Formats: sequence, structure tokens, C-alpha cells
Amino acid sequence: MVSLPNWYFDESKMAGVDFEDPAQAESFDLKQPSSTPEKEQALVSRLGIKSGQIVIDLGAGTGTFAIQASLTGASIHAVDISQAMLTYARNKAHKAGATNIQFHRSGFLTYKHCDHLADLVVTKAALHILPDFWKMVAFLRIASMLKPSGRFFLRDVIFSFPPAEHEAALQAWIELAAKPEGQGWTKQDYEMHIREEHSTFAWIIEGMLKQAGFQIVEMNHVSPVLAEYLCEKLW
Ligand SMILES: C[S@@+](CC[C@H](N)C(=O)[O-])C[C@H]1O[C@@H](n2cnc3c(N)ncnc32)[C@H](O)[C@@H]1O
Repeated sequence: MVSLPNWYFDESKMAGVDFEDPAQAESFDLKQPSSTPEKEQALVSRLGIKSGQIVIDLGAGTGTFAIQASLTGASIHAVDISQAMLTYARNKAHKAGATNIQFHRSGFLTYKHCDHLADLVVTKAALHILPDFWKMVAFLRIASMLKPSGRFFLRDVIFSFPPAEHEAALQAWIELAAKPEGQGWTKQDYEMHIREEHSTFAWIIEGMLKQAGFQIVEMNHVSPVLAEYLCEKLW
């Protein structure tokens, strides 16, 4: 057990949604239609994951992406801080016959990668749990887990609206919750996300990725509140 300095962030105390609650794990897949097996399979193809590669999924949740990635024959490390999510994901992987996934109860700031350096690190809808300083620490740690020219894929609630327009942009997002494209999360969930979690501006994330030694090779501001980045480690 590595001892951490007193000033280190305690990532077991999660902001916002309590993913330690088994009820959250049970209902998660229904709320998160952006992570169906079909959509994750498409992402696996898009990222070119193949047999022999080592892939780390940070904040792996109920494991849908990890399972689809493992079906290529790649070795997957599915990392999550929540025991409830990991238990659910393990059962799902067992049912899917996905044997090449190692599950780790750990997080962005504590996961110690003991395998060969990874070809790819993925994190989806999880990084916003960390305040910005700690996102930067997480990016440095992710870079250290990757082989030279290894890739990092990030998708999250990230804001690309003009800062002065935040009230209207956030209100428009909250209103989506009541509609089909609101993805199963409620208005109250979105309000809590803004109030208690740590989503930030795209220009902050992009600066941090560069500071951590990444080149952004694909950038997609999917909507004013959702962005994805495919990055390559420069060294
Ligand atoms: C919204 S879910 C996203 C799950 C999955 N990546 C997806 O795309 O559907 C966020 C996940 O991040 C996990 N999490 C929260 N804090 C974390 C941390 N510090 N390190 C790693 N995972 C964390 C939660 O337990 C939860 O499973």
C-alpha cells in the first residue's frame, strides 16, 4: 500500500452521484444510452482496438466499453473507485464470456499500472469527478501509463459555450433532461452535476492535455456541454 501525502485528494469521497450505491449500478445502463453495447462496439472499432493491445478504462462503470474492447482479444484493465460498479461490471463480463478483463478498485489518482505500458487509455463520463488541479494530475498519470505515441481518448461533460453565456447554455442543457435526448438522467441530476461536480471549459481541458505532453489529434465539441478528444502522447 503506497502512502500518500496528507494533502492528497481523497477520491473515495466522490462528488455528485453516489456510485457506491448498488441501486445506481443496477439502474446505470438504463440511464446511460450513450454506453450501449452497440455504441461501445462502434467506439472500439473507431479506436482500432485489436488483439495484443493493452487498454485501460478509467472510471469503467458497469463495464460495457471494457467488455466490447475485450471481445477483440485485447487485454483490458477496467478501473473504478466504486465497489458496487465493479461488482456489477464483473458479473456482466462473466455473462458475456469476457475473460481478459482485469478489474481494479482504484481511481484516476491512485491506480498503479503494473502491466506493460498501455496502447490506449480511455475515460468516458468520469473525469468531471475531479477538480481541475486534480484533472491535471490525472492527465500526467495517464501519460505515464502509456507507451511512447500511445493514445488517450477522453469524452466527458465539457463546456464549449462562451463563458458569458453560461446561464442560457446550462439552462438549455437542463431542459434536455425532460426530453428523449436527455439520456435518462433527470433535471435534478443535471442540476446536481453543475452544482457539485467539476465539469469545466474545453479551453482549460485542452491546455491541460497539452501541458501533460499530449497532442490532440481529433477534437469534437459534440454539443455545447459534451466534448471528446483523441490524443497522442508526444514522448
Ligand atoms: C458516469 S459513470 C461512467 C461510466 C462509464 N465510463 C460510461 O461511459 O458509461 C462514472 C464512473 O466513474 C467512477 N468514478 C468516480 N470517481 C472516480 C475516480 N476518482 N477514479 C475512477 N473512477 C471514478 C464512478 O464510480 C462511476 O462508475
